[in-house]
Amino acid sequence: MEMKIGVIKGDGIGPEIVGEAMKVLDRIAEVYGHSISYTQLLMGGASIDVNGIPLTDDTLEQAKNCDAVLMGSIGGDAKTSPWYQLEPSKRPEAGLLALRKGLNLFANLRPAMLYPELKGACPLKEEIADRGFDMMIMRELTGGLYFGRRSTQIEDGVTVARDELTYSEEEIRRIAKRGFDIAMKRRKKVTSVDKANVLDSSRLWRKVTEEVAADYPEVQLENMLVDNCAMQLVKDPAQFDVILTENMFGDILSDEASMVTGSIGMLPSASLNETKFGLYEPSGGSAPDIAGKGIANPIATILSAAMMLRFSFDLDREADAVEASVSEVLKEGYRTIDIMSEGMKQIGTKEMGDLISSHIR
Ligand code: IPM
Ligand code: MG
Repeated sequence: MEMKIGVIKGDGIGPEIVGEAMKVLDRIAEVYGHSISYTQLLMGGASIDVNGIPLTDDTLEQAKNCDAVLMGSIGGDAKTSPWYQLEPSKRPEAGLLALRKGLNLFANLRPAMLYPELKGACPLKEEIADRGFDMMIMRELTGGLYFGRRSTQIEDGVTVARDELTYSEEEIRRIAKRGFDIAMKRRKKVTSVDKANVLDSSRLWRKVTEEVAADYPEVQLENMLVDNCAMQLVKDPAQFDVILTENMFGDILSDEASMVTGSIGMLPSASLNETKFGLYEPSGGSAPDIAGKGIANPIATILSAAMMLRFSFDLDREADAVEASVSEVLKEGYRTIDIMSEGMKQIGTKEMGDLISSHIR
């Protein structure tokens, strides 16, 4: 197969972790007889440095012409980086939001599972970690607070800021369908997370989700309030299969879920639209504090590349091979510093990438 992959290395640890994921993809291409062409794209701080803005129209067009995009992470230290002297609409994160919107990537999949080998890195009580967990967070990605109107203005001498939270029933329906489709391939349970005791947008979310559920009689739907969900994630994460939720709640809950897996460095993600196209990125940030030190965990990015093989190219066997190789390397005791525990062998970003690619068969 010919794969045309756009690559956004990004900022901070981005270039280091993407480099390792490309190494693994190249190994897959070699072993399974595919060919890959990479197109380097600039987005975020790296684009600001060159183009003055975080995403140009030209880059968006180039991304559209790829089959899929692999991304590192973007952004810098808000206190020290000159990018944050710019107005909010010109900062690195605005580029990411414009890319998501411009490519219509409304479905964000963030799988959070506890590798048995990483139980030691799980901050939860032993009896909870022992039960393990394997959930898919489906986060709506192009609506809600992130894309509503916003303003900051002075009213009667007082500064007032506003952010609008809007969802249409269509926006809710298409993500809910995706959630139920994914649940059909898993353990057939959807937990829809909202704040229906307060928000109108959540009441609509619940109504539409229940309508969609009627078309999936095999799937069990449960509604959960977001504050309760935040609590349940640390109390009993094994109860979750698919968590279906809106943009802002999904942002917060997915960071929480990642931490109970042991490290945010383990959590991949896929952002999909109605086609086979997808943007694949680790859920974690650009970690400017450790950039360039060669210690960042590349596994989330490597697992994101596996999701790309699965969702954009239908290469399940190849995706399985990458995931199996990650498990093997963990089983053999190799760890980056973020998931290090006693008796294990600590290695850097490059060695982790090398080991994972050399285990691919
Ligand atoms: C994420 C990130 C982004 C988000 C930021 C960088 C804008 O936190 O992908 O979860 O909030 O969506
Ligand atoms: Mg986030």
